[in-house]
Amino acid sequence: MLQDSFSRQFQYIRISVTERCNFKCQYCLPNGYQRTCADDSLFVAEIDNLVAALVDMGVWKIRLTGGEPTLRRDLSEIMQIIRGYPQIRELGITTNGFKLGDKINEYFNAGLTNLNVSVDSMDGEQFKNITQVDKLDYIMDSIKTARSIGVCKIKINAVLLPHSLTELDMFLEYIRNQPISVRFIELMQTSDNGAYFKANYIDAAILHNELLQRGWQQIAREDGAGPAIEFSHTDYIGKVGIIAPYRKDFCSTCNRLRFTHTGALRLCLFGDGNYPLRNLLQSKQQKPELQQAILVALSEKPKAHQLASFKTGNIQNLSNVGG
Ligand code: 5AD
Ligand code: SF4
Repeated sequence: MLQDSFSRQFQYIRISVTERCNFKCQYCLPNGYQRTCADDSLFVAEIDNLVAALVDMGVWKIRLTGGEPTLRRDLSEIMQIIRGYPQIRELGITTNGFKLGDKINEYFNAGLTNLNVSVDSMDGEQFKNITQVDKLDYIMDSIKTARSIGVCKIKINAVLLPHSLTELDMFLEYIRNQPISVRFIELMQTSDNGAYFKANYIDAAILHNELLQRGWQQIAREDGAGPAIEFSHTDYIGKVGIIAPYRKDFCSTCNRLRFTHTGALRLCLFGDGNYPLRNLLQSKQQKPELQQAILVALSEKPKAHQLASFKTGNIQNLSNVGG
């Protein structure tokens, strides 16, 4: 079992499959992805070896992230391999939705169950301002298609920005009649986005209070739930989530570990601890050694991040650590 020194269990793993991205979100890659070396993302066989080790250790849920995971042409092959392990009950991706409408059938047939799409604004112009891509309508249509073919857990991620509060009505209207969660993520400071962070950070407590005032109720945390606070409302089928990493106690419910696109285990998004394990992903025979190395690294997972003291770890932006 994957458990750390503070009794937190990890049955959910995020694997970044590329650091490339084709969006230029103002808070992440305002100048676009800058290629620094040849693409050194994990090969399919390496991902297979990693998952083989993880399922033995109790992992049943995997999310593929990036960068933008759909930029990998072999993404459905990766999905099929992962779903080939009967222990994996849920397989998700976090995507900016760029090619989603064209690809969603293929992904669904490859075993995708959970879909998180980043939609920072419900207004086309605002969306374009933030992402520098004019595709909101296409992305919203793609989400509709995903629902209609049966992708069962769909979430929208919206980074909490000054306009999110003025657009709150639009977001809520969207989930009034459909079982989709909108999750607002507090803007996180990275080493790339200092000025943007200063100008645009909004404390999620403001949104939290606004939701309570509108009759939304906080849902009791389920066992195994992650660090999001969730709200429901009798007039709405969808739910609202708040992810507020700057909140005290955020880390006590941490249930996730990350692997970077080059196969390093990252214990905390905001920690400096990266454990390169790619050399142990080269053959199935290395499984015991790999599992041992993961356990040793995990014993060093810190209790909490130190964002409050402005220590962001070595994150340059979220695309290169795997959001
Ligand atoms: N702060 C908060 N959220 C971020 N994301 C990317 N960079 C940041 C940041 N600095 C979001 C993306 C995506 C999710 C994986 O993380 O918009 O929805
Ligand atoms: Fe935007 Fe995600 Fe790409 Fe960063 S990695 S630019 S947040 S789509």
